[in-house]
Amino acid sequence: MTTNNRIVLSSDHAAIVLRQAIAAHVAARGWVAVDIGPTTPESTPYPKHGAEAAQLVASGDCRFGIILCGTGQGIMIAANKVKGIRCGVCLDTFSARMIRQHNDANMLALGARVVGEGLALDIVDAFLTAQFEGGRHATRVAMIEALEG
Ligand code: RB5
Repeated sequence: MTTNNRIVLSSDHAAIVLRQAIAAHVAARGWVAVDIGPTTPESTPYPKHGAEAAQLVASGDCRFGIILCGTGQGIMIAANKVKGIRCGVCLDTFSARMIRQHNDANMLALGARVVGEGLALDIVDAFLTAQFEGGRHATRVAMIEALEG
């Protein structure tokens, strides 16, 4: 059980509306939503926003991160460049549960041009309510961490 109840949310311009809906959703479930924007629709590069959110998770300031772009893919790739980050794009609730249970993911990426709001909120719930199972999965996560040098 974590005592850190802060979730950082970030996106590029393609996902502002969905990101804000997710921020309200997690806040309604008792999390502190740290929404770092952006709030205006000008084109803005997803690597910047993925990195900013990832730094807050890697530093321990936030327990989880939820990041979005058009597909979720670009911002996920950027976030995973930050040491200590394990982020996956999820298009379904099974994957969202499994990246917590088996991969101890600390960030979730979503594609605002791929999933609708209803599915996105279900994916977020699946991610946030699942628990890392440890055991053999901890050994494998340690192997991932070893790759980071
Ligand atoms: C921006 O048009 C788009 O490339 C971005 O949101 C994302 O889908 C990249 O992976």
